[in-house]
Amino acid sequence: MAFITTGTLLSLAALAQARNNGVGKLPVMGYDTYNAFGCDYDGALATAQAKAMNETGLVALGYNTFILDDCYALKERDAQGFLQQNLTRFPGGLKKWTESINQYGVSGSAYSSNGYLTCGAYPGGYGHEMQDLETWRSWGWDGMVKYDNCYIPYDNVTMENEFGRFKRMADAIDDLAAKYNEKPFIYSLCQWGWENPMNWAPRISQAWRIDADITPFWTAIKTIINLQAASYLATGFYQHGDMDMLEVGNSGQGTPVGNMTLAEQRSHFTAWTLLKSHLLIGTDLRNATNETLSILGNKELIDINQDENEGAALAPFRVGFQDDFSDIEYNFTSPPPYWAGNSSYGAVFMIINYADEQREMGFNLTENWAVRAGRQYNVRDMWKHEHVGVAVRNWTVTLEAHDVAALLLTDVGPEPARKLADGELAPPCAYPFLAHQCTSPNGSFIYNGSITEWGF
Ligand SMILES: *[C@@H]1O[C@H](CO)[C@@H](O)[C@H](O)[C@H]1NC(C)=O
Ligand SMILES: *[C@@H]1O[C@H](CO)[C@@H](O)[C@H](O)[C@H]1NC(C)=O
Ligand SMILES: *[C@@H]1O[C@H](CO)[C@@H](O)[C@H](O)[C@H]1NC(C)=O
Ligand SMILES: *[C@@H]1O[C@H](CO)[C@@H](O)[C@H](O)[C@H]1NC(C)=O
Ligand SMILES: *[C@@H]1O[C@H](CO)[C@@H](O)[C@H](O)[C@H]1NC(C)=O
Ligand SMILES: *[C@@H]1O[C@H](CO)[C@@H](O)[C@H](O)[C@H]1NC(C)=O
Ligand SMILES: *[C@@H]1O[C@H](CO)[C@@H](O)[C@H](O)[C@H]1NC(C)=O
Ligand SMILES: *[C@@H]1O[C@H](CO)[C@@H](O)[C@H](O)[C@H]1NC(C)=O
Ligand SMILES: *[C@@H]1O[C@H](CO)[C@@H](O)[C@H](O)[C@H]1NC(C)=O
Ligand SMILES: *[C@@H]1O[C@H](CO)[C@@H](O)[C@H](O)[C@H]1NC(C)=O
Ligand SMILES: *[C@@H]1O[C@H](CO)[C@@H](O)[C@H](O)[C@H]1NC(C)=O
Ligand SMILES: *[C@@H]1O[C@H](CO)[C@@H](O)[C@H](O)[C@H]1NC(C)=O
Repeated sequence: MAFITTGTLLSLAALAQARNNGVGKLPVMGYDTYNAFGCDYDGALATAQAKAMNETGLVALGYNTFILDDCYALKERDAQGFLQQNLTRFPGGLKKWTESINQYGVSGSAYSSNGYLTCGAYPGGYGHEMQDLETWRSWGWDGMVKYDNCYIPYDNVTMENEFGRFKRMADAIDDLAAKYNEKPFIYSLCQWGWENPMNWAPRISQAWRIDADITPFWTAIKTIINLQAASYLATGFYQHGDMDMLEVGNSGQGTPVGNMTLAEQRSHFTAWTLLKSHLLIGTDLRNATNETLSILGNKELIDINQDENEGAALAPFRVGFQDDFSDIEYNFTSPPPYWAGNSSYGAVFMIINYADEQREMGFNLTENWAVRAGRQYNVRDMWKHEHVGVAVRNWTVTLEAHDVAALLLTDVGPEPARKLADGELAPPCAYPFLAHQCTSPNGSFIYNGSITEWGF
């Protein structure tokens, strides 16, 4: 039994070093079997997904790892405690199956749980951490370990909270990498946001789920975006708030069968990419429509998700439907609609219309740090894939119910000089409310529409 001692605490520095070696810097892209198939899949069906990923160009876009989610093994370990292969599900075994996906440029990743059993009641990793890592390695898996939170031992057995229970696998991953002098597995916690993982998961892992399992319905998407609004600040390079596998493509199919509109799926994908979540496809790609592929294949959004120079998630800059900051309140029926941040390609804005009808939605350039007041910006629509205009002072979009705008703003110089309008006292200053502290060169304030001689 491994209790945390001073010695293992010191090895956190080594774990951080391993992470900083480049492993897990960016969110992981790939495929996971769970949303499409639950436990109802076999090797041939999984390989067909990898084949489709290659043929549709998704591998070239960066979707390059494959997680066999729950249920790939037999229900019992062997006499020596090793995971046993289901040779009916994977004829020829899992090493052979892994080679079948490797030919498409896709690598293997593991799923397990930190308890006695996985959530589907297959053998869990507790007490077998190193042994299972050796097994996965022997099957040729080298990508990520997705580690669930089911069938956990009593407190009086582990004498640990979530942190300690999940640290066991972190240590084993470290030991395995040291033993073979190989890059460590990326470690991705699937513990549904218990005990606020944003506060501790970055010490031992590169990603943590923020939520319970996603479902292919709009209500789930809104709930997850709202949760990420409370934890986006912890997201960065090597530490990713995982919003769960994608449900894009699961309208009319999937497990369960979903019903999101294309607008809802666009909003879903935009939020997942720009809030720097893993991008793990969860739909049967043999049935993927062109619309599904064009959402999953939005290269402009993927480039921002995988930006080598900017690890932070977009941040919300207004809350709810209100037009200013005067009523910042956490609102479950209306998560933040306005988000912005920076990227290598320009300032990035995301606006989501949660209303059930069309809305005009806009923002002022003075509202967000990622752009500068008094400048003008080229605006690129990353769903239309075209330049849509030049923003001076503000930008407005018309959005259908549950649709999204993903905008890239690039600076094209100072805003055009203009004459003051009738009754206008001075050019404005950047501030969302009254022009408090907006000062003319002679020291007088322009305050609430009148001039106040304040003086130096
Ligand atoms: C992967 O896709 C490319 C492009 O469609 C194709 O040329 C190549 O043969 C595919 N690879 C395999 C192993 O099928
Ligand atoms: C083994 O695979 C077969 C075929 O997919 C499946 O019917 C069976 O339930 C699997 N066994 C276990 C223990 O999952
Ligand atoms: C933990 O507590 C349970 C219930 O009191 C008890 O049956 C069990 O023996 C304890 N286990 C250990 C390892 O102390
Ligand atoms: C989608 O399905 C969910 C779950 O069955 C249901 O609650 C919701 O009303 C459906 N939405 C639409 C627009 O049909
Ligand atoms: C998806 O495609 C496969 C193979 O073409 C087919 O067997 C299956 O029924 C399709 N599923 C749906 C929901 O259309
Ligand atoms: C889907 O896209 C492909 C490739 O661009 C095209 O050949 C095909 O006609 C499209 N299918 C439909 C139903 O539009
Ligand atoms: C929350 O948002 C809904 C719209 O979805 C709005 O009707 C409601 O007034 C908001 N509640 C608060 C407390 O802002
Ligand atoms: C945005 O990111 C780019 C690329 O890292 C950087 O050059 C630029 O200075 C950043 N802009 C701001 C406002 O931080
Ligand atoms: C947006 O900016 C334009 C100038 O570019 C101005 O005429 C217009 O009144 C502004 N709209 C809002 C809502 O601030
Ligand atoms: C945007 O600027 C206009 C003045 O141009 C102002 O009336 C409006 O309140 C501002 N909106 C926000 C959200 O700051
Ligand atoms: C200071 O500047 C403001 C705005 O330019 C002007 O309206 C005001 O008359 C000036 N005050 C003095 C004392 O010159
Ligand atoms: C701003 O001026 C308006 C009238 O022009 C007045 O009703 C309002 O109370 C003023 N606000 C403040 C904060 O002084």
